[in-house]
Amino acid sequence: MRWLTAFSALAASSVPFAHAVSSQAYTWKNVKIGGGGGFVPSIVFNPSQQGLAYARTDIGGAYKLNSDDTWTPLLDFVDNARWNYWGVDALATDPVDPDRLYLATGMYTNSWDPNNGQVLISTDQGQTFTPSPLPFKVGGNMPGRGMGERLAVDPNSNNVLFFGARSGNGLWKSTDYGQSWAKVSSLPDVGTYVPDPTDTSGYNSDKIGVSFVTFDSTSGSSGNATPRIFVGVATNTSSNLFMSNDAGSTWSALPGTNSSWMAHKGVLSPAEKALYISTSDGAGPYDGTLGAVYKYNITSGTMENITPVSGSNLYFGFGGLAVDLQNPGTVMVAALNCWWPDGQVFRSTDGGNTWTSLWDWASYPTMNRYYTYDDSLAPWLGPDGTADSIVTQIGWMMEALAIDPFDSNHWLYGTGATIYGGHDLLKWDTVRNVTLESLADGIEETSAQALLSPPTGPTLLSGVLDEEGFAHTNLDQAPSAEFAPATGTGVTGLDYAGNDPQTVVRVGNGDSTDGPQAAISNDAGNTWALDYGSPSGVSGGKVAISASGDTVLWSSSANGVQVSQYTNAFSVVSSLPAGAAIASDKKIDSIFYAGSGNQFYLSTDGGKTFTKQATLGTSSSTSTVIANPGVTGDVWVSTDTGLFHSINNGTSFSAVSGVSQAWSISFGAPASTGGYPALFAIADISGVVGYFRSDDAGTNWVQINDAAHGFGSASANVIAGDPRIYGRAYVGTNGRGIFYGDTAGAASSSTASSTSTRSTSASSSAHSSTVSSSASHTTSTSASSSSHSSSASSTSSTPSSTGALQTAYGQCGGQGWTGPTACVAGYTCTSTNPYYSQCVPT
Ligand SMILES: *[C@@H]1O[C@H](CO)[C@@H](O)[C@H](O)[C@H]1NC(C)=O
Ligand SMILES: *[C@@H]1O[C@H](CO)[C@@H](O)[C@H](O)[C@H]1NC(C)=O
Ligand SMILES: *[C@@H]1O[C@H](CO)[C@@H](O)[C@H](O)[C@H]1NC(C)=O
Ligand SMILES: *[C@@H]1O[C@H](CO)[C@@H](O)[C@H](O)[C@H]1NC(C)=O
Ligand SMILES: *[C@@H]1O[C@H](CO)[C@@H](O)[C@H](O)[C@H]1NC(C)=O
Repeated sequence: MRWLTAFSALAASSVPFAHAVSSQAYTWKNVKIGGGGGFVPSIVFNPSQQGLAYARTDIGGAYKLNSDDTWTPLLDFVDNARWNYWGVDALATDPVDPDRLYLATGMYTNSWDPNNGQVLISTDQGQTFTPSPLPFKVGGNMPGRGMGERLAVDPNSNNVLFFGARSGNGLWKSTDYGQSWAKVSSLPDVGTYVPDPTDTSGYNSDKIGVSFVTFDSTSGSSGNATPRIFVGVATNTSSNLFMSNDAGSTWSALPGTNSSWMAHKGVLSPAEKALYISTSDGAGPYDGTLGAVYKYNITSGTMENITPVSGSNLYFGFGGLAVDLQNPGTVMVAALNCWWPDGQVFRSTDGGNTWTSLWDWASYPTMNRYYTYDDSLAPWLGPDGTADSIVTQIGWMMEALAIDPFDSNHWLYGTGATIYGGHDLLKWDTVRNVTLESLADGIEETSAQALLSPPTGPTLLSGVLDEEGFAHTNLDQAPSAEFAPATGTGVTGLDYAGNDPQTVVRVGNGDSTDGPQAAISNDAGNTWALDYGSPSGVSGGKVAISASGDTVLWSSSANGVQVSQYTNAFSVVSSLPAGAAIASDKKIDSIFYAGSGNQFYLSTDGGKTFTKQATLGTSSSTSTVIANPGVTGDVWVSTDTGLFHSINNGTSFSAVSGVSQAWSISFGAPASTGGYPALFAIADISGVVGYFRSDDAGTNWVQINDAAHGFGSASANVIAGDPRIYGRAYVGTNGRGIFYGDTAGAASSSTASSTSTRSTSASSSAHSSTVSSSASHTTSTSASSSSHSSSASSTSSTPSSTGALQTAYGQCGGQGWTGPTACVAGYTCTSTNPYYSQCVPT
């Protein structure tokens, strides 16, 4: 069926969308990175059904645990219109009816997410969900997202749920299994703490709100609402723990804790009739320098401080907290952020009277590590994997900690990068040596920024935030190492030289302490050398390398467009706007292409100067420029008003009919040898926002994603065709890792699934907002990740200008840090990882 025809660019936006979209079945699988690759804020076991457990992530949805230790994603249906479902701020599994699962979802409570949140209700353990809209926003990727859980099911009357909202919206209650919600106005405090009142973006200046809700199951009887409920709130100036003895009608403050420290977790030990509480002076997930662990004796009404360490050994707050339901009195707690020398976990078998730790000092600097490290499921993770500035094994940002309620040997905890745990936990108490395994198999939560399937060498090269990137030779096997040497905190751009495809360039995020953030490979991405022409501090964005591989053109929003030949120093290209979309010709070494706003540009002098060519209709932002690898002058440009094609170096363009907006585009292998390369596009075609392929240069299109593979926010994602395998496409998502898809049937002309509806104006504005979060570590941090976004925000890691000196072992830098960056005498500020620098002895 022919339903798209080339016509004048200027008419593109006025054409009605009358055609059905044809589709083709594809088989989609994750490109296995294996190990998560991002923050896992919470892991929750169901106390009633053996083996039932879930994990939630901040930008990539939720997962269910399988009996073989693998995880199954639950929210892969989430498409562009529902992108904020992937921010899961709280999770509750029903102790009465284990088939019921609730997820409180929404991405940001500031303007980056214009949509309110919703509780996703499942009655089949997450196979299907029904959304219950909330009248306020939910912040799955906001500060304090590791506190919780904020959502809880009454263990005696499971129609009753409580949800602790953010932003000062307080406590909410449902009595109909989450279908409708009403505010509980009786709670005396809604959580007034904000991490940074001066943050004008609203990200760090919004109230964290209610931090957890925990029912005391022992206080009630089956069939009646549980009378005793504990609630924590993020407030650091007055009482922040409350108890109700009348099912939430009235509340009283629980005295006995330091109210400067906020409760992250409140975990009930029913057999002991005790509530364990972990606290920190920060909301997390990156901060916290002090805190305590408490035990509230429900019978006696007394609060006991059971903090495992004190004095100079206490330089962190506490997050993850777990009890062993099989062994009352066995409790574990994680240092939320013990950045140096490694994370820390404590265990007590006597209700917190005495503790042992996962490591301690033998004699400085030698550590006793009471574990055997096993990252065989994700060999790139550990310090044995690659040269990485992060040398910790145990982890950081440890808010999720759980002991299997049916198996005292089985434990899991979440870090900023993965899930660790094991199956021999009781050995902690005997030989004091457990096997610490990476157990995030199936969790793929990287934020992919760049994908390249080169004509030769590895099947796929990927650039992801937080983990640099990978050369994937076997898509179903976790890579053994990240790109090395590292350039910073995530690769954002990749390109190959058309006439010399062994030559590949990458650029990535980093700061001025990370050194060069461009690197060049001469073996198609297997090994790399830093490009020392790359100026310190120039970071992120997209990159193009000339056909012969001698010239690198680099476009970033913060540092403009720069060019370098023969790895000499980069110089500014003044004829191009900052953040312009760029591409190299794959045949002629001196030709580069660029687009910005509605203007297309051509360089014929190796990227030194660009001249304006034709305009791209009424577009206001250009997303991607690609050049036909076989034909000089044949270029495609995606913009916020459509998809444009030129066969004369941009002297003139035609707009592709029916395409009203397009983001990432790429060439793949042609349908028949010598034919026009397949064209892949993330686009709005005929009113359907989806993932499309054209085998005839844009005349006919088939949709290649389906209702089960929505891939989240379209604008935040990248697509790449495979030049060696016809039909193969790679989709890099913002939080659900990378997928590869192969044709699984002939193209049909059936109407596309109704789940992939046209983007509403609300989700359109979300396109530009998802890419602007720079305060979030696993996420859409790159302002340049989606070059069409013209309103990307600046990074939040502005150093303090106060001139104050940090004290011994205090934090002195890292993403989001605004405090002192210099140390008192005798101490040097040393970068532990991108999120934390610490004053250590000189
Ligand atoms: C409470 O939090 C604010 C940040 O909102 C911080 O400036 C203040 O120092 C904290 N107070 C205490 C007592 O820790
Ligand atoms: C309570 O917390 C504040 C703020 O971190 C700290 O200065 C104070 O020493 C703490 N009090 C106790 C008794 O630990
Ligand atoms: C709680 O206090 C009661 C009364 O003092 C005592 O009998 C009980 O052992 C305590 N429970 C725990 C877990 O410490
Ligand atoms: C724990 O076992 C591993 C593997 O045998 C060993 O390398 C490590 O030293 C042990 N830890 C301690 C503190 O003995
Ligand atoms: C594109 O520009 C290059 C350099 O000026 C030229 O060699 C080539 O013929 C042009 N191609 C087309 C199709 O105009």
